[in-house]
Amino acid sequence: MEGVQTGAVRRVLFFDSGVGGLSVYRDVKEVNPDVEGFYLFDNECFPYGTKSPAFLENRVVSLIDAACRRLRPAAAVIACNTASTVVLPFVRERISIPVIGVVPAIKPAARLSQKKVIALLATPGTVSRPYTDELIKKYASDCKVIKLGTPVLASIAESRLSTGTVDRKAIEQTVKPLMELKGGDRPDVAVLGCTHYPFIADVLQQLMPDVRFIDSGNAIGRRVRQVLSALGPESFEKPGQPLAFYTGNLDSYADRLKMVRNFGFADLQQF
Ligand code: DGL
Repeated sequence: MEGVQTGAVRRVLFFDSGVGGLSVYRDVKEVNPDVEGFYLFDNECFPYGTKSPAFLENRVVSLIDAACRRLRPAAAVIACNTASTVVLPFVRERISIPVIGVVPAIKPAARLSQKKVIALLATPGTVSRPYTDELIKKYASDCKVIKLGTPVLASIAESRLSTGTVDRKAIEQTVKPLMELKGGDRPDVAVLGCTHYPFIADVLQQLMPDVRFIDSGNAIGRRVRQVLSALGPESFEKPGQPLAFYTGNLDSYADRLKMVRNFGFADLQQF
């Protein structure tokens, strides 16, 4: 773009309840290397999957609003299906920058499925949302959609990312109802409808080798590129430091710092 300094960046805020949004951040960075990320995770209220829509609306709108005032990003990504399926319109009403939501990849899953049987793995909140039902009605009306809502998988992904160990047995126990489906009832495509799940996708794939798992990460990467390209040259800034922030108190700070550094963040601070 004319008048833009070489090496200039665009600051984008990524928001989630925990580590899940880092999977989205990674995919967004891959196609938008000039994005400098701020990552805010609401550690204090994790998990979101069991919280009420009213609670999430209040909490997420005020946190994103506060983060935008303080950090002045050019755009924000709500890198959480549980939050996006409730709060998107309210956040857009409150803040003036573009807001990109992450919602389950039902549309591509329905297209990919040959058997027209798809599974949706997500939090209890996401699987019970009217927004999710609308997505299914709109894009997967020709498919049987098997919903598996659980708070367990997000916690397993959290601990895998900060400790490096993964509870395979608990994952197997959780997805057993899907593994036991046979023949025409068995899905050939499964939607990872929680941004934490790409971090345990390898285990899920081992447990269900015949199922194709898909998430929204790449689509969000393309969407961010599109949204940023519509902004003017004033959205570019001199590079600074990509920073991560948590809310409340954080257990095992050193592990978490190491984790966010692995994703390219310079520091982890209390918000
Ligand atoms: N990462 C969030 C999502 O995409 C949910 C995790 C949680 O329950 O807090 O839905």
